[in-house]
Amino acid sequence: MEDKLYHHREIDFDCFALEDFPIPKLLLMVTPAYFDVVDVRNAYMEDNIGKVDKEVAWNEWNALHALYHRTILHGCLEEVKVLDGQPGLVDMVFAANQSLPWINRKGEKVVVLSRMRNANRQSEVPFFKSFYHSLGYVILPWPESILLEGNGDIIAHPGKRLLWAGYGHRSSFEAAALLPELLETPVVPLHLISEKFYHLDTCFMPLDEQTVLLCPSAFDDNSLQAISSVFKEVIFIPESEAETTFALNGLVLQDASGVKHVVIQKGAIETVSALRKKKSVVHEVETGEFMKSGGSVFCMKMMLY
Ligand code: ARG
Repeated sequence: MEDKLYHHREIDFDCFALEDFPIPKLLLMVTPAYFDVVDVRNAYMEDNIGKVDKEVAWNEWNALHALYHRTILHGCLEEVKVLDGQPGLVDMVFAANQSLPWINRKGEKVVVLSRMRNANRQSEVPFFKSFYHSLGYVILPWPESILLEGNGDIIAHPGKRLLWAGYGHRSSFEAAALLPELLETPVVPLHLISEKFYHLDTCFMPLDEQTVLLCPSAFDDNSLQAISSVFKEVIFIPESEAETTFALNGLVLQDASGVKHVVIQKGAIETVSALRKKKSVVHEVETGEFMKSGGSVFCMKMMLY
């Protein structure tokens, strides 16, 4: 396979042909010290300005943090790191968006820092830059004119050297087109067409190398075709469940014996039953305060190598 952008018609490989790639085991969270909804940046934030209960938000965040610590015992994670939220940066708790860490073909840890659509969110990025410096990552150059919202839109195929690149709302198609050369990786662009599913991580949840759960109405036909050419099994989750419970914003981890653990907002009935049928361990959590801002479990962390 080549390190290029693969349009749906050019996909001449399936999941079994993909190159192995490390599964990240270091998880980063950002505290919700200044988390709030102060304006409307996505459809979920309408009607929620000023409605965040800060104490409840802290309780939800602490419970999630404690759960990640417990999963270290099973080998799902090696370490959990925490950055402090910063005054005025109300969305910084959504640590999935500011960066895209990866490993190049020389085996070096590299990162692309995001170019975020919202000016207030763009101010979060320098804090991540220092953090990646401290971990010894190589910071790759990125043009200021091209919108990219990190791991919110660019999602790795589980354990494989392939990136799925959502575009249309927050990240641009040009971002997807730049990634293959920069990250030395094949990339498949996915066109997001529904306003409710403004980041790829709201509508697309790969479970393992063969299986993905998704909400079909979020994608155009070519993108759905691309996904089903690569994954052996595509499980459709109803739009209502993906929207009201952020069902597809779960975080998939893998324990020492290869069993998948999925951390997911409570109440995603069909998604949880599909996950259990696939023999995954499901950890249901409450992220209600963060859903007021349009984010849940997957948004509230960054996975690093
Ligand atoms: N309020 C945030 C925004 O609109 C939510 C980000 C959610 N993150 C995600 N990866 N989907 O930018």
